[in-house]
Amino acid sequence: MEYRLIYCSRNRIEGSEQQIAVEIEKILLSSRRNNEQQNITGALLFNGLAFAQVLEGPRSAVEAIYATICEDSRNSHNVLLETGDITKRDFARWSMAYSGPDNDGKLYQHLKLTDCEKDASGVAKRVLDLLKSVVHAHV
Ligand SMILES: Cc1cc2nc3c(=O)[nH]c(=O)nc-3n(C[C@H](O)[C@H](O)[C@H](O)COP(=O)(O)O)c2cc1C
Repeated sequence: MEYRLIYCSRNRIEGSEQQIAVEIEKILLSSRRNNEQQNITGALLFNGLAFAQVLEGPRSAVEAIYATICEDSRNSHNVLLETGDITKRDFARWSMAYSGPDNDGKLYQHLKLTDCEKDASGVAKRVLDLLKSVVHAHV
């Protein structure tokens, strides 16, 4: 049985749009390298203000990487939206798919962090549906 974790957090990366893009690129490089080694797949959504991420794989590996992310000063106020066992991965082909502000990330602008606290499972479903639609557009 595999495990899925969905969270959202606030962006703490400062600087120009370009400096932020450079830092996101570093996050994606680390993610793709580490996740592949750990049999983790998933997708990251970023809209400039906030992140939302789906992580899937062996439970212990997913929990360990989430703990690392929570300690990463490039984000804060991490809110768990959903955790649980899954029978099938949605991002099996992606060590870390990415949707940023310059493509479909703008769709995410209405997902406020206040919603995350009030309606975690509703936000989790919207994040998952959005990321699945982005990824499937690339198949
Ligand atoms: C929003 C966000 C998402 C991240 N997602 C991942 C991830 O999926 N996998 C990962 O290994 N690191 C991820 N990181 C980076 C980790 O916090 C950490 O910097 C990295 O795992 C360190 O590995 P490295 O020393 O191999 O670069 C993320 C960081 C942030 C801010």
